[in-house]
Amino acid sequence: MARPMFVVGNWKMYKTAREATDYIEDLIPLVEGSKANIFLSVPFTSIAPAAQYAKDTNIAIGAQNMNDAREGAFTGEIAGLMLKEAGAAFVILGHSERRHVFGETNALIHRKVLRALQDDLQPILCVGETLKEREAGKTEKILKEQIFTALDGVPKEDADSLILAYEPVWAIGTGKTATDRFIQEAHAFIRSCLSELFGKKKADEIPILYGGSVKPENAGEIAALKDVDGVLVGGASLDPKTFAEIARASGRQAGETTRETSAKTSAKKKAAASSASEKKKKAVSPKSRQRKSTKPRTEKKE
Ligand code: 13P
Repeated sequence: MARPMFVVGNWKMYKTAREATDYIEDLIPLVEGSKANIFLSVPFTSIAPAAQYAKDTNIAIGAQNMNDAREGAFTGEIAGLMLKEAGAAFVILGHSERRHVFGETNALIHRKVLRALQDDLQPILCVGETLKEREAGKTEKILKEQIFTALDGVPKEDADSLILAYEPVWAIGTGKTATDRFIQEAHAFIRSCLSELFGKKKADEIPILYGGSVKPENAGEIAALKDVDGVLVGGASLDPKTFAEIARASGRQAGETTRETSAKTSAKKKAAASSASEKKKKAVSPKSRQRKSTKPRTEKKE
């Protein structure tokens, strides 16, 4: 099964808006013609300027979190529709720092996934076990709980919009990478969960990324694993040259073929079915140039 390859940078709480646009200017020529889909997940204040700078390039801009409500009296929170209008094409949900530093539960992440799909944002759902859970032999149990809760009730037709990311908590920011065998086994397990939820055909099309101390030296090897469809990069994404090296290394695992993506969001499909909802969508969405960028343009190894 051929799937598109993704290289996603997660800046976390780094870079002002000015630093973000300087970075993107530097990155554009370095990743031009990349065979991988290049995504940057930036702080809220950088989304609009970053999306503006990345306009008409192969770089898609996204967010790192959002609230599960459409709108409301939630001081300090941000809604998916606001992210969308600012130019975000996707949103990372359930990152381990959200789970473990900010106490997000599987139930809350589930509501956020449903909201992101409604708001026409492509969710990148992060899952992963802690070191304690791993040592107790609970990796699969934890992954299953996280996946089945977060994706409960996601209609089969929306499965096309999903991206998953396996990030073992013990490998994030620690310099420790899981072994190739461990990564492949975890990814194959995640795909089997997706298969239970959405059927094998859909599960075979959902990209599953690996994250945790990815760097230029290990990206190519990781991206070459059978069930790995790209990488989610924290620290090493903060420098455009290093990030571009990771994109090159991962892109080598992508094939030459171009195809229309399966990653169409539910909102897009619903909009196609109803001209009334299409009008409404246009009213809240900026001209969806970013949507183009989220379309995987390449396929990875067969
Ligand atoms: P590092 O690449 O810094 O380990 O971070 C991984 C991560 O959390 C990406 O979301």
